[in-house]
Amino acid sequence: MIRLCAPDELAEGQSRGFLVDGLQLLAVRRHGQVHAYRNRCPHRGTPLDWAPDQFLDPSGSLIQCAQHGALFLIDSGECVAGPCAGESLTALACREDGEGIWLL
Ligand code: FES
Repeated sequence: MIRLCAPDELAEGQSRGFLVDGLQLLAVRRHGQVHAYRNRCPHRGTPLDWAPDQFLDPSGSLIQCAQHGALFLIDSGECVAGPCAGESLTALACREDGEGIWLL
């Protein structure tokens, strides 16, 4: 397991980017649950963020790609609007305990 950060370093409704062994990934906490995905848009294979640690749309309820605006469900990674609708982000298994948020 690889520790991404302390539990309180990913607040409710926040997103964060990480670089682990050359792999770019993102984590989002929503309704208390942490979701992790590769930071790679299925449309062009580029990173999603428009600024460091900014992965969400203005409502904070969807992951948004900065390149062409694709929108993804936070809890499944499925693209629900944009040029790659129907495709999905690559989910990464993670878990959380009192010590941290861990990539499995
Ligand atoms: S690269 Fe993400 S929507 Fe085009």
